[in-house]
Amino acid sequence: YVKSTKEILEKASKERYAVGAFNFNNMEFLQAILEAAEEEKAPVIVATSEGAIKYIGKGDIEAGAKLAVEMVRTYAEKLSVPVALHLDHGRDFKIIMAAIKAGYSSVMIDASHLPFEENLRETKRIVEIAHAVGISVEAELGKLKGIEDNVVEKESVLVDPEEAKVFVKETEVDFLAPAIGTSHGAFKFKGEAQLDFERLKKVKEYTQIPLVLHGASMVPQDVVKLANEYGAELSGAKGVPEDMLKKAIELGINKINTDTDLRITFVAYLRKILSEDKSQIDPRKIFGPVFEQVKEIVKERIRIFGSSGKA
Ligand code: G3H
Ligand code: 13P
Ligand code: NA
Ligand code: ZN
Repeated sequence: YVKSTKEILEKASKERYAVGAFNFNNMEFLQAILEAAEEEKAPVIVATSEGAIKYIGKGDIEAGAKLAVEMVRTYAEKLSVPVALHLDHGRDFKIIMAAIKAGYSSVMIDASHLPFEENLRETKRIVEIAHAVGISVEAELGKLKGIEDNVVEKESVLVDPEEAKVFVKETEVDFLAPAIGTSHGAFKFKGEAQLDFERLKKVKEYTQIPLVLHGASMVPQDVVKLANEYGAELSGAKGVPEDMLKKAIELGINKINTDTDLRITFVAYLRKILSEDKSQIDPRKIFGPVFEQVKEIVKERIRIFGSSGKA
């Protein structure tokens, strides 16, 4: 029941809205994302990082990719909205191949840490393989600052629009993630939030394909405050303001990658519920209300992205 990411994003590009691409690592996050999309009547992309595939498969990448596909299929079957399953930040050839074999809708080849020519060559190689079996491909140009399991960059390097033009033409990649100043995680900006919209505008002009914004979590301050009240240490956490997301969508962003906002919401409400109901030991009674909150944050994001009612 997994749908084509390309169809979902080309419609978004034509009609100028963005589709949320939300990361999951387990059943509950996946359920929360899918329920949110269904209630908003929105197309949605669910994504697993390489780390998520390893986590789900307990280190066995074939098993992890297969289970991810089976989970998504099982839940998506009952829904009326289009759902796509995407591999986020694919760097390991074996994991990219495991995702393609397992039935993912699309994969990201993230060779953005390599020099331009090598990124181009790597991306082109993956595009040839994926397109042969009807799977679409995302690539990244420029470097995002930030730390995740498999992606560590100290300095951010913004996309060069002229390079983007050549890159898209040569690789025939379906979607492009241009680095315009965001970063992964909960601490995105030291001072004021700043994105390079001029660059984004040029990249869209030169490439005319669906564009992807990584590191797009808003890091809502009320949720950060709640988490901190219940013992978290997240002071200084900062994300992308709503008006900047909306401007990015106007200028051609059609896929918005969001993980941190779900993670922060999960942690804040898990802390709250555990500390308010100290005798509770039923995981379902703990996770139930926690994931209701995760679902709410996903619905809020979907509305901001403009994809509500677009299914
Ligand atoms: O950008 C990547 C996502 O936030 C996933 O991160 O590698 O910790 O699963 P992860
Ligand atoms: P955030 O850390 O801002 O949620 O970004 C997630 C992301 O880019 C996944 O690819
Ligand atoms: Na991605
Ligand atoms: Zn990312």
